[in-house]
Amino acid sequence: MEILRDYKVGIEGVCGGSCDCGTCHVIVAQEWAGKLPEPRDEEIDALDELPLIEATSRLSCQIIWADDLDGLTLTLAEAA
Ligand code: FES
Repeated sequence: MEILRDYKVGIEGVCGGSCDCGTCHVIVAQEWAGKLPEPRDEEIDALDELPLIEATSRLSCQIIWADDLDGLTLTLAEAA
C-alpha cells in the first residue's frame, strides 16, 4: 500500500495500514495470487466488509514487500 501510495496511483490507505478501512483494496493477478502469503483472519474479515470482492482480492497494506514479489501485477479495485 505504501509503495502504491508513493507512486500516486490512486490508492488511499486511509487507516494507514491497520486493516480497518478497505481503501487499499486491490485485485491480484491470478498468476500472482498463490505466491503471496495467505491473508490473516483480520484481513479476511476486512475484505468481507467490502461491497464487491473477487477471489484474488487483497488489502495491499497487508502485503509485505519482498524482492521475490518484483513484477507483482495487480489492479486497483474501484472505490465503493
Ligand atoms: S490501508 Fe486501510 S485497510 Fe489497508
